Amino acid sequence: MSPFRLTRTLPEDAAGAALRADVRAGLTGSPKTLPPKWFYDARGSELFEEITTLPEYYPTRAEREILLERADEIAAVSGARTLVELGSGSSEKTRHLIAALDGLRTYVPVDVSESALTRAGQTLAAERPGLDVHALVADFTAELTLPETPGPRLVAFLGGTIGNLLPDERSAFLSKVRALLAPGDALLLGTDLVKDEKTLVRAYDDAAGVTAAFNKNVLNVVNRELGADFDPDAFDHVAVWDAEHEWVEMRLRSRTAQSVKIPALELVVDFAEGEELRTEVSAKFRQEGVRAELSAAGLDLTRWWTDGEGRFALSLSVAR
Ligand SMILES: C[S@@+](CC[C@H](N)C(=O)[O-])C[C@H]1O[C@@H](n2cnc3c(N)ncnc32)[C@H](O)[C@@H]1O
Repeated sequence: MSPFRLTRTLPEDAAGAALRADVRAGLTGSPKTLPPKWFYDARGSELFEEITTLPEYYPTRAEREILLERADEIAAVSGARTLVELGSGSSEKTRHLIAALDGLRTYVPVDVSESALTRAGQTLAAERPGLDVHALVADFTAELTLPETPGPRLVAFLGGTIGNLLPDERSAFLSKVRALLAPGDALLLGTDLVKDEKTLVRAYDDAAGVTAAFNKNVLNVVNRELGADFDPDAFDHVAVWDAEHEWVEMRLRSRTAQSVKIPALELVVDFAEGEELRTEVSAKFRQEGVRAELSAAGLDLTRWWTDGEGRFALSLSVAR
């Protein structure tokens, strides 16, 4: 069995302080918002894994198809000895890439979800003898300090998670990723593509209601961590396509006029009947836009692959 290490890069109460700051800012602003990273406690991570198996949720299947087809090419082009994966979750698709990377010495999965990291890290360390798995519990939108590991380095950011960042956040994030790379190192990026509204909305509003449960889970997190009294049943799950910004928004719509107490913040939040709280944006992309955003961060797009139905793209870009 290979070594598995898990490092918490944040000070003891950093997550609590960040949640308090995000909830205060998000629920006192107009419109009300919460950042998507708070979906992912242990239950949220499980619900996300369930989403990836739903018939309506095509991105995981489409991205896996591309990875299976292109893993050898990615391995040959990158020659990576270290693979860093941001927002790695279950690392389920990543195994195909890891299997193809013959010279890989170290895998560094980075996620806010410690439960997902532990499960995935232990499985991978057992599966791939000799691979050093060094998991980091960290927020990829904050400062990220990676362990010293051998180059060349490949950073993977899969699942279309980049779409959860707003445009300004994306450009700051890509510059930060570039700073993790030496010239010639590569970024493997998964981006969901613009397509018809019906397919997009169904992917975020499945018939079995799993995405609705995932969306409402953020209220359970705020209840548990901050002593709030949100009633998740008093909100409806909403998914809408914003054609101007080319993103899907997930929202929670208050069924009635209600007040929610958040004791840890000494805050009472009033919702009007029908008022919506935005919990996630999921931007959809076009090749020209991805290329331009990467280039602005000092990354040259060298490969662009899509699945057979053109729903999802995986790109490889190289640090200048
Ligand atoms: C949409 S899921 C994708 C998971 C996996 N990469 C895949 O392709 O199936 C997003 C993942 O990113 C993690 N995540 C979300 N926001 C994060 C943040 N700010 N910092 C670190 N991890 C984050 C979540 O815990 C989750 O595992």
